[in-house]
Amino acid sequence: MKILVIGGGGREHALVWKIAKSPLVSQIFCAPGNPGTARHATNLPIKVDEIDKLLGFAKSEGIDLAVVGPELPLSLGIVDLFREYGIKIFGPTRFAARIESSKAFSKDLMHKYGIPTAAYGVFTDIDAAEAFILKTGAPIVVKADGLAAGKGVIIAGTEQEALAAVKEMLSGNTFGEAGSRVVIEEFLTGEEASFLVVTDGRNLIPLASAQDHKAIFDGDLGPNTGGMGAYSPAPAVTEEIHQKAMEQVVQRAVVGMAAEGCPYQGVLYAGLMIKDGEVKTLEFNARFGDPECQPLLMRMKSDLVPVLAAVAEGDISGQTIEWDEKAAVCVVMAAEGYPGEYPKGDIITGIEAAEQLQDVTVFHAGTAEKNGHTVTAGGRVLGVTGLGNSVAAAIEQAYQGVEKIAWRGMQFRHDIGKKALFRD
Ligand code: AMP
Ligand code: GLY
Repeated sequence: MKILVIGGGGREHALVWKIAKSPLVSQIFCAPGNPGTARHATNLPIKVDEIDKLLGFAKSEGIDLAVVGPELPLSLGIVDLFREYGIKIFGPTRFAARIESSKAFSKDLMHKYGIPTAAYGVFTDIDAAEAFILKTGAPIVVKADGLAAGKGVIIAGTEQEALAAVKEMLSGNTFGEAGSRVVIEEFLTGEEASFLVVTDGRNLIPLASAQDHKAIFDGDLGPNTGGMGAYSPAPAVTEEIHQKAMEQVVQRAVVGMAAEGCPYQGVLYAGLMIKDGEVKTLEFNARFGDPECQPLLMRMKSDLVPVLAAVAEGDISGQTIEWDEKAAVCVVMAAEGYPGEYPKGDIITGIEAAEQLQDVTVFHAGTAEKNGHTVTAGGRVLGVTGLGNSVAAAIEQAYQGVEKIAWRGMQFRHDIGKKALFRD
């Protein structure tokens, strides 16, 4: 099979790396890819939002299966477009991707189908939003309706801060169209987990449990990022929580999406908040999480390609996924200043040395090749991922890899995976 992977981050490097192991695959292309994907795939100079160009390439090259990494092309309707031309593609349609691309749609779905979530309101009007904020009280959470690259969520400590965030979003200054509607919701406490399933719109196969680390600094301090590290399995997802997440969250979502006339196919990612043995849904994503994808695919023993193809064909009933008993931990190394402004072009050393360690894989995210060097080219630069017999052992492996790597101003969290070790 000829496979086209769309995207160019750590998630896509992990996807390409895993797909390359499949005996079913003869050739892989990645658009736009990165120096990591280039080891197993032919990178294409096509951006993820150039969906007509991606279609043109897939047609002329005779691509058998396209796999979409990020949310942007999904929300632009890449799946609808490829299907129109009979090209198999893994991911939800534009309408189904609203489960991520519109937080108002997603919250209304949760409400209608009894999926546990924080109490909320959807607003386009500042006065109505203010009344809701004053009635609910702080802390309170303000979210831009549309896609905002992980930056559209403000946890407001005071009512004034919440109102300022609403005004900023509704004025269209910060998020443009994405902020023309806001969701305001109750602040939830507890432990977060990333709960992912693959689904053909009827059947669901859960992936192994995982946990992300959203905040930039150790101890979950500082602003939120796309994710500074992840690990699997996550002990927060006990057998009981797994059952609840399946029955109350993802199954209801899949049933609800079908009932709403937009059956959901692809990976469905539920961001969970777990407290006192109960789950609430923070959000849905229409794709693999990044960095969660990296430790998850390190642990996946069975071939991923038949599952992706079966989803694209609309029937996963014959599929299973096998997991390594080992744990995996991914530490994200980021550029100075991330998640704010950051420099590019700094020379990175030590990647090869890290990869010589046993059970360590370095996934590239924001890197580029320049004059024979690997240089930084994004906020999240590398995902150093280790396997071990326990989360503690995998942490040790991952950080041994991190220690070998250096560039000017690099930053990373020192406590990835610790939540799995010290539990109440
Ligand atoms: P979201 O994109 O909706 O998942 O929000 C990003 C992050 O903001 C989540 O991973 C949580 O850390 C935090 N967050 C979102 N909604 C809430 C909430 N209702 N209560 C507390 N934290 C939240
Ligand atoms: N790591 C969180 C996300 O992919 O949205």
